[in-house]
Amino acid sequence: MSAFIVLGAQWGDEGKGKMTDYLAEEADVIVRFQGGNNAGHTVEVEDKQYKLHLIPSGVLYDSKLNIIGNGVVVDPKALFEEIDYLEDLGVKVTPEKLMISDRAHLIMPYHRVLDRLKEQARGKNDIGTTGKGIGPCYTDKYERSGIRICDLLHKDVFTEKLKINVEAKNEYITTVLNGEALSFEEIYNDYIAYAERLRPYIQDTSVKVYDAIKSNKQVLFEGAQGMLLDIDYGTYPYVTSSNTTSGGVSNGVGIGPTMITNAVGIAKAYTTRVGKGPFPTELENETGEWIREKGHEFGVTTGRARRCGWLDLVILKTTVRVCGLTSLAVTKIDTLAGLEKIKVCVGYKFNGAIIDYFPASLEDLAKCEPIYEEFDGWDESVADARSYEELPENAKKYLARIEEITDTKISIVSVGPRRDQTMRVRDL
Ligand code: GDP
Ligand code: IMO
Ligand code: MG
Repeated sequence: MSAFIVLGAQWGDEGKGKMTDYLAEEADVIVRFQGGNNAGHTVEVEDKQYKLHLIPSGVLYDSKLNIIGNGVVVDPKALFEEIDYLEDLGVKVTPEKLMISDRAHLIMPYHRVLDRLKEQARGKNDIGTTGKGIGPCYTDKYERSGIRICDLLHKDVFTEKLKINVEAKNEYITTVLNGEALSFEEIYNDYIAYAERLRPYIQDTSVKVYDAIKSNKQVLFEGAQGMLLDIDYGTYPYVTSSNTTSGGVSNGVGIGPTMITNAVGIAKAYTTRVGKGPFPTELENETGEWIREKGHEFGVTTGRARRCGWLDLVILKTTVRVCGLTSLAVTKIDTLAGLEKIKVCVGYKFNGAIIDYFPASLEDLAKCEPIYEEFDGWDESVADARSYEELPENAKKYLARIEEITDTKISIVSVGPRRDQTMRVRDL
């Protein structure tokens, strides 16, 4: 029995899509457990690139089952656009290959409108969301007014819930946020049409995952976003609205935590962040610019430039603890080639003491001063390296120090965006 988690150890965009695709070869079932189409996961196989937002990154294999779990928020418009995009690229997305939880909440057009208008209303305190309606949809879920996928299959239930919601949202949108009212009929007609197309994909996915694990199939849980965007343990309020940590898997899939065997944290060899919020090791200088250009650090979902900075091991140590990581996968080590010196943050100076955990209060975090260790860089390209031994000595020293400080072994090193640019160092 094996069920393992692949999750982002930083602020998202660590290469979860690439790693999920790589590890999916060993898995039978690939499951998304939280988030929605705010995610942008890139997979490259040979000369083809695929950008996934909602559909698990195991979809490129014909023989794997992909599941969108109950913890995910599903925008059916975005889902069908993604299915059509994949089919155009020659990837089949059949109900045998993709199953969607009947308990997942639906992103509605008013969620997208609310996301945008609330961000505008926040002014300089905006979060920098992706604008996909994620926060407003999870708000309705916890307020207990959300509409679930199973509701779509019952026309009268859906009609009533939609009426109540459109009325309440329109009132708020027009009177508080100065926006325009949405049309009930338009939403109703669109969603009734989506319901027919969705029907064959809808399942009690908790049962499917449980049965798969029980029958000794390998199940991979694919995280979206990253540890520091977690609603509880991230840099609140500059976070997303779900639990991106290992803890989110059990609730977001409907299986007990005792069924999960491993958790791999995906960490970029440096740090990036898109959207607003604190970032202690950010490089707002030429080096940051150099990393952004070399690493093509621009968002997959919104196209925004990603902020770049040195690797922060305080963050990775926090992820190891909160997510119970059993190993790390380090990506984009190739991007660092060519830097004369590379720095790594190993702790923070805070109120005269040295700490190695991530403070809750953003005011305290703002006072934290990174303590750096400096490493000699390497010039050689590592893009063609396929074993650890082939890496330059200085790259090996860098990786060894990550293992030492985080007290966690590296299982995989990624040296380029393609599936084959990956080396397996040890078991997960
Ligand atoms: P995700 O959201 O965690 O799946 O990551 P994204 O797809 O948003 O961003 C990661 C980017 O880095 C994508 O463009 C990947 O193709 C690319 N990538 C992943 N691993 C590597 C790597 O080891 N080296 C390089 N150069 N690019 C990588
Ligand atoms: P993947 O899965 C990086 C960020 C947004 C914003 C904050 C809240 O590709 O790693 P939201 O729309 O979720 O309410 O936005 O979270 N964010 C991401 N940043 N990668 C992601 O996903 C992200 N998904 C959301 O930029 O700061
Ligand atoms: Mg991404």
